[in-house]
Amino acid sequence: MTAVVVSGLTKVFNQGRGDEVLALSEVDLTVGDGEFVSLIGPSGCGKSTLLRLIADLIEPTAGTVTVADRPAAQARREQEYGIAFQQAGLFEWRTVRRNVELPLELRGVSKAERRAKADRMLELVGLADFAGHYPGQLSGGMQQRVAIARALAVQPPLLLMDEPFGALDEMTRERLQSELLSICAKTGTSTVFVTHSISEAVFLSDRVVVMSARPGRITASIEVKLPSRDEAGRQAPVYFEKITEVRQALRA
Ligand SMILES: Nc1ncnc2c1ncn2[C@@H]1O[C@H](COP(=O)(O)OP(=O)(O)OP(=O)(O)O)[C@@H](O)[C@H]1O
Ligand SMILES: [Mg+2]
Repeated sequence: MTAVVVSGLTKVFNQGRGDEVLALSEVDLTVGDGEFVSLIGPSGCGKSTLLRLIADLIEPTAGTVTVADRPAAQARREQEYGIAFQQAGLFEWRTVRRNVELPLELRGVSKAERRAKADRMLELVGLADFAGHYPGQLSGGMQQRVAIARALAVQPPLLLMDEPFGALDEMTRERLQSELLSICAKTGTSTVFVTHSISEAVFLSDRVVVMSARPGRITASIEVKLPSRDEAGRQAPVYFEKITEVRQALRA
């Protein structure tokens, strides 16, 4: 099984109008089963667009997307993936706990199990004390953590994450990076992860995919093999070498 196959993907917004935008042009990308792939590139190069196309939230202008060997639309119906996007996208009228429970509800998980899972995920992101609060009562970074807990709660085969740690302080960010990696390793989850941070991409990924400015194209695909993904990994020479390689690919 292949987690994601993107082939000849092109996206034009507002086609035929004065404000037409060619956001993505002829993108090919394969994400292997259990692979962690980061997308990095300048603002506006189409990273979020690519993720939304994989999630079947928008339609391609040309090209195809398959998720778990199925057309993206079918994979969405079968809830093959969890999503955490740039905006937290929480439901304001639901408490934090009930936001995290939502995808479990959609899957018909029993109330007791839902609650136990949601509370465990909230513990993981450091929000156990806020389970009964509403999103409007939380800071931006806290809302983002709720969205991460919600995406992880169902342990989906594929995680799509769009700058999920952007709004977090450095320490929380590093803790959640480690948690994310251990969840992915335990569950064999495949991940497509958008970030603006070169070091974050290198630390987390099996492969860093570099995109060019609009129209977004893939210009480099850099394999990363750290000796370990922990403190020692962050100090390994290969970590710094890969950071340099990605930086140069972004400049090119
Ligand atoms: N719904 C839309 N309608 C029209 N144009 C859009 C739409 N969504 C995105 N675009 C355009 O497509 C291009 C790519 O946008 P996208 O959000 O994918 O960039 P990005 O790489 O995620 O940027 P950032 O790093 O700032 O989040 C931009 O030029 C944007 O203006
Ligand atoms: Mg974006």
